[in-house]
This record gives sequence, C-alpha cells and structure tokens, in this order.
Amino acid sequence: MHHGLFVTGTDTGVGKTILAAGLLARYRTEFLLRYWKPIQTGIEEDDDTATVQQLVGCSQEEIFDQGIRLRRPVSPHLAAEFSGMTINLDTLTELPEIKSNERCLIVEGAGGVLVPVTESSMMVDLMVRLGFPVLIAARTSLGTINHTLLTIEALRARDLQIAGVALIGNPESGARRSIEQYGQVSVIIDMPVLDPLTPEVLESWVSSAFDPEGALRQWLK
Ligand SMILES: Nc1ncnc2c1ncn2[C@@H]1O[C@H](COP(=O)(O)OP(=O)(O)OP(=O)(O)O)[C@@H](O)[C@H]1O
Ligand SMILES: [Mg+2]
Repeated sequence: MHHGLFVTGTDTGVGKTILAAGLLARYRTEFLLRYWKPIQTGIEEDDDTATVQQLVGCSQEEIFDQGIRLRRPVSPHLAAEFSGMTINLDTLTELPEIKSNERCLIVEGAGGVLVPVTESSMMVDLMVRLGFPVLIAARTSLGTINHTLLTIEALRARDLQIAGVALIGNPESGARRSIEQYGQVSVIIDMPVLDPLTPEVLESWVSSAFDPEGALRQWLK
C-alpha cells in the first residue's frame, strides 16, 4: 500500500507550500519522502513544485512533477474549463508513481478542502481517494478558529484522519488553544513569518523548531 501525508489549508495562500518545504527539510534525512502537487493552477506565476525544490534543494527522487498544470490562477474546475479540459481524479491517482510505496508522498492540495475540481468533485474527494492523513495549514490571524474548525468538520465527515494543525504567521496563543479545544486536534507546528524566506533561514528554523515533538514521524515511516 502506498503511503503519504496530505497538506491542506484553510484557504489559498495560507502557507501550505512553505509548510511542505519545511516538512521535507525536517524529515528528508530520516525518511524517504517525495513532494507532489497533483493540481497546480496559475502555473506561470505560481509553481509550488519549483518553490519547494528551490527552498529545500531537493533531488529528482524527492519531487514528483506530474499532474494537472493549468495556466489560469483560478479554482481548478474553472481553470480546467478555460483550458478546454476536464480533470479526472482517477487518472491522477492511478499514476504508477503514486501507487508505488517506495517513498512517502507529501501531497499539497490547491486552496482548501471544498475547492471544486470538477463539476461534481472537490479537493477533499482527492484526499479520500488517496486516504492519507491530513495536515492542516492555518493562519494565525483573526478568523482562523472558524476556518480551521470548518476544515476539521469537512475532513471528519469523510472519515479522514487529521495528523495535526500547523499555525502559520505571527504567534497568536488564543487561536491555538481554541482550535485544540473545540477541534479536538493538536497544533503540532507553529511556523513564524520567515524573513527573508531563503533556504538557509528555512533550514535554520526547521532544525530548531519544526515539529519539535516529532508528532509527524508516525505518518512518514
Ligand atoms: N512562514 C512563512 N514565512 C514567510 N513567508 C511565507 C510563510 N508562509 C507563507 N509565506 C508566503 O506567503 C505566500 C503564500 O504562501 P504559500 O504559497 O505557501 O501558500 P499556499 O497555501 O501554498 O497557497 P496555494 O493554495 O496557492 O498553494 C507566499 O508568497 C509565501 O512565500
Ligand atoms: Mg501552495
């Protein structure tokens, strides 16, 4: 059986890509990992695969750069329509590289859980097909409790396992406590704003503060 971890977010632009890069930087020497962005929209201005590769200095084996690549920076179902194609989730998940269990896949979604992907499916349907535990990237700013709890509900309604929550941005302790209490989840990563966002700054922060308890280890084996 193939295995992996799905990185989702409470919204687009919350920091999923930087979180995934941090995860690879933290655990790539301990586990065989491979980053995968199955659906990328706005590819000309936003190439998450290239960002991760650049920030982490990944080898070829650590990146799987196949999947749906669309030009328009809009929701996948609309971007596909503009390109005159339909996204097929079965085709994506049947890729032989995805079915192999050689490396643990670190999969990054596009936007959040209920982002439409086709006329009748959403990003969460891809998560269900893959069946991987889910790491939720959330902002620290006001509104995040509601967004995170809604995301948790949508995942639990589909029996998806939640590996934890990562709070990204300037520290905000109230949100953390409430998310843990009302969501019955653990906030396992507090990712500050890294400035400048360079491979060196990321590596230095990761080595001292990314998942200090090693909570993600159990999913990466
Ligand atoms: N911890 C951080 N420190 C500094 N900048 C960050 C951090 N996290 C995210 N950013 C910046 O915020 C912007 C959005 O982050 P990111 O691209 O990771 O979001 P995303 O959730 O992956 O979005 P998408 O849904 O498009 O994949 C980027 O410009 C990124 O460089
Ligand atoms: Mg991203």
